[in-house]
Amino acid sequence: MPSHFAARGANLLLALAALQQAASGAPTGTSTTASSTSLLGYNPANGVQFQDTDNIQYSLLPQQTEDANIGAFLDFNGVENPQPIRGSRGGLDPGPRKTEYDILNPDKLAPPGTDHGSVANAEWPLGLSHTKMGLGRAGWSRQQNVDNIPVATEMAGVDMRLEAGGYRELHWHTAAEWSYVLNGSVRIQAVTEDGQTFVDDLSAGDVWFFPAGVPHSLQALDGGVEFLLVFDDGSFSEDSTFLATEVFARNPKSVLSKNFGGLPLSAWDNIPSGELFIFPGTPAPKDIAEQNIVGSAGVIPVEQSYSYHLSKAADTVTTAGGSVKIIDPKTFPIASMFSAAVVTIKPGAVREIHWHTLTSCIAELLMSGILTLSSFFISGDARIGIYAAEGNARTFNYHAGDCGYIPKAMTHYVENTGTDDVVFIEVLQADHFSDISVGQWVGLTPPQIVMDTLNLTNSTVSQFKKEKQYVVQG
Ligand SMILES: *[C@@H]1O[C@H](CO)[C@@H](O)[C@H](O)[C@H]1NC(C)=O
Ligand SMILES: *[C@@H]1O[C@H](CO)[C@@H](O)[C@H](O)[C@H]1NC(C)=O
Ligand SMILES: *[C@@H]1O[C@H](CO)[C@@H](O)[C@H](O)[C@H]1NC(C)=O
Repeated sequence: MPSHFAARGANLLLALAALQQAASGAPTGTSTTASSTSLLGYNPANGVQFQDTDNIQYSLLPQQTEDANIGAFLDFNGVENPQPIRGSRGGLDPGPRKTEYDILNPDKLAPPGTDHGSVANAEWPLGLSHTKMGLGRAGWSRQQNVDNIPVATEMAGVDMRLEAGGYRELHWHTAAEWSYVLNGSVRIQAVTEDGQTFVDDLSAGDVWFFPAGVPHSLQALDGGVEFLLVFDDGSFSEDSTFLATEVFARNPKSVLSKNFGGLPLSAWDNIPSGELFIFPGTPAPKDIAEQNIVGSAGVIPVEQSYSYHLSKAADTVTTAGGSVKIIDPKTFPIASMFSAAVVTIKPGAVREIHWHTLTSCIAELLMSGILTLSSFFISGDARIGIYAAEGNARTFNYHAGDCGYIPKAMTHYVENTGTDDVVFIEVLQADHFSDISVGQWVGLTPPQIVMDTLNLTNSTVSQFKKEKQYVVQG
């Protein structure tokens, strides 16, 4: 890319010129200098400055010097001045740069040789999302939607924290909401169009679902709560929900009085003038029965319940490399188009290469650190390699608090490249959880077809397994 190098060289020269001016004691502060036409174009008087790269100190990892198609993970922690070099390709990056980004994203700095062409962005660190601040230190939220990952048209995600007693105010929205509790505990409640009621308490590892349009509220119990929200619309914005406060603030008080059977206008004297969104409240009564309000339609029947106590469920699959816990409408019918897997991958292990036939996949990575978001910079991490047809493939690095989005039908693996367990959630817009395992696919295909296609030996193909492996030990 000669134009890229030319542009970078120009920036460096500008920076050098600024440094030289500072060093030569040029006056600081505001100054103006008349432009001179002698600086236009080539002029032997305007000699170039050569970049001195002879003294750049750096070291390469052994994996950077081996065949790039081996593509091993590059752990740049502790490596002097990491460089974009892999196999026979790349070159020096003398700067300007921020090495911390390169350490976090080694597969972007020095991609495996198998990366090719272009794959739409598939990751977003919530650490780069704007925080929406709750009132009275009652909590906050951070969202990821199509603004951050343009290809994520089918789902958006929000990470939300409520302090003890803090509310996410009574509201509804045009998207359906699926949620996984990351830590702490929360009371959730809702009222249906038929006047049925619902209230439940959930804690870490449990799941809730509210259909589009159904009004609900959330209140943190002692110790507060943090949860991940997934909406079935990539353009969902937490700023465009319908709020109880606004219903009252944005209807004439005279209409409110008639609506509520002739209450005096003074009844509305102290209503909030606008949204509360997240705000502190009276602690929820310990006895949930005190909040079981029931009308003539009764409570929501248990088979239509808006909650599922997934934390109490056993893992669906356990392997030497980790485990998978699946939740889908077979056990949680109200969430009729949300299927998810909570996947744990031990250090060095890989969630096997697979794709989803039905849908896109939003993968929210939760390593041990996300649960408090205090140890964002833990050493463990993961990478996902995506193959997107037409020869295109790209590798992305993920850390606690990051989310990702993999469009329908593209293969992907998740490799734990750190020293801690990786825990992440795959959420699908699908009526059951399913994937096609590349290993099982070729294991169940007549061997001669596989040998002819991939130029593999009989002894290699004969070791392919006929069952899904889910998480393969490193
Ligand atoms: C929840 O947060 C607490 C306090 O930060 C932490 O000690 C605990 O390990 C977290 N729970 C889980 C399940 O990670
Ligand atoms: C298959 O592998 C053999 C052995 O390396 C090689 O000689 C041959 O060219 C390969 N065939 C194809 C079609 O790539
Ligand atoms: C592969 O090897 C097995 C024995 O390991 C043999 O039974 C089979 O016929 C071989 N298949 C082919 C296609 O060579």
